[in-house]
Amino acid sequence: MSMPKILTHVSLKGIVQEKSNYRECLVMSKFEYTMGKELDLKAEQAKTLEKPTIKPKGFLIFLVWVMDLIYGKERTLPKFKVIETLARYPYWAWENCSYHRITKTYTSTKPADKKINELSLRHIEFGREAQDNEQWHLMLIEDIMRQKGIKMGWLKGSLIPFLMACGYYFLTRAMYYIRPQWSFAMNAAFESHAEHQYMLIVSEHPEWENESVDTDYFQYYPRQKSLADLLRRIGLDERDHMFTSLEEYEALTGKSYL
Ligand SMILES: [Fe+2]
Ligand SMILES: [Fe+2]
Repeated sequence: MSMPKILTHVSLKGIVQEKSNYRECLVMSKFEYTMGKELDLKAEQAKTLEKPTIKPKGFLIFLVWVMDLIYGKERTLPKFKVIETLARYPYWAWENCSYHRITKTYTSTKPADKKINELSLRHIEFGREAQDNEQWHLMLIEDIMRQKGIKMGWLKGSLIPFLMACGYYFLTRAMYYIRPQWSFAMNAAFESHAEHQYMLIVSEHPEWENESVDTDYFQYYPRQKSLADLLRRIGLDERDHMFTSLEEYEALTGKSYL
């Protein structure tokens, strides 16, 4: 697939702010990332619930409405499974489209632009990392549902998530191609919503505080003592994803999204 004219290194030139690589960004960031830190998960949950979510706009309002209509307003594990099915698509788009941009750059007669290359490398690196993280969320939630004997029918468990994933696949790619900042803004709001939903479902299920959790997927993901702590930790991952989206929005536009 060739890169549409809209997002070439030429069109990005001049709007990309000077920024470090992904690892340096995490260290130097104004945001308090939680990954890899020993934290009081209950205190972090309280912090989330004290703050408002980023207001969804446009397509995201529609997505939340559709999810509530089909899966109900109540927070349930099946609903989270569907959210996690969709969650990795923007990261995949950022990674994949950045590879296209590199191909375009290095098949051009013009010299490569270092700033644009750094942007591509950063989007590839955190796109990969966040995709894996979202994938583990999906696998963890599904395994917990299986252990609890929670099943979803063909319509709500297979067909609808498949159709939503197809739509989200094309939408996230189109947004990143046309105006990458749209994609980062939408994802920040998506992740902010997800973070709050995880912290809320934990507060609605006090019995999960004493429910131990075990799954084969702890070979990929930090082991937690209880189901409540596992869902809090996932909620914090969503917060970190929101931070990276906000940082990239700022790097592209030169202004804060919030
Ligand atoms: Fe997730
Ligand atoms: Fe996320």
